[in-house]
Amino acid sequence: MTNVLLVTSSPRGAEGLSTRFATELAKKLAAQSGGAVTPRDLSAKPLPHIASAYISGRTAPPESRTPEQAEAVGRAETLIHELQTADAIVIGSGMINFSLSTQLKAWFDHIIWPGVTFAFDASGPRGLVTGKKVYLVTASGGVFSEGAYAPFDFQTAYLAHLLGFIGLTDVDVIRIEGTAYGPDAVNAAIAAAEAQIGAALARAA
Ligand SMILES: Cc1cc2nc3c(=O)[nH]c(=O)nc-3n(C[C@H](O)[C@H](O)[C@H](O)COP(=O)(O)O)c2cc1C
Repeated sequence: MTNVLLVTSSPRGAEGLSTRFATELAKKLAAQSGGAVTPRDLSAKPLPHIASAYISGRTAPPESRTPEQAEAVGRAETLIHELQTADAIVIGSGMINFSLSTQLKAWFDHIIWPGVTFAFDASGPRGLVTGKKVYLVTASGGVFSEGAYAPFDFQTAYLAHLLGFIGLTDVDVIRIEGTAYGPDAVNAAIAAAEAQIGAALARAA
């Protein structure tokens, strides 16, 4: 049974291609194993930017936190609990200005917590969220998997680095790319995404 955490983050909400295909993959992944999907919709319910109450609250003893600190820390604990209790994580990410949306960045800013999701000792950093499969569903107007723009994909490499930093090193990337090049390109990108999703589901079965 695969319980799937579905994190969607397109500023376009349900219309976003990353949202659409991440949702399709998460639902099929859970269905084929008799598991369930836990949605974390960062577009419908955006997280705040992290702020002073969160930073100071994380290191304060729980009993001495102010109400603002307790609220901010509690929000992060909820997100981390969702992550820790999932078997697989599907993340939908639309490219915004060559990187990820602020909605998704805020999620990472909440879940990357020293001593909780990563440790740091004499041997360096060590991820603490291990043994989970991640599917990264990215959408972009340009083509970044190859060609002249490949060096400017600050989305996929950055996301893979953030995930690996907390221990999530098993990452499959599904790209919906080149959608800025007209309707035929959109159809081709969607067909390619469907094929990648089918292959990912077959590998997981
Ligand atoms: C504000 C904004 C910035 C964007 N920046 C880029 C970009 O830097 N490179 C790119 O290839 N596409 C860019 N796009 C196009 C999106 O990546 C594309 O529409 C993608 O499908 C968005 O994901 P979504 O469909 O899940 O919302 C941008 C779109 C918007 C609205």
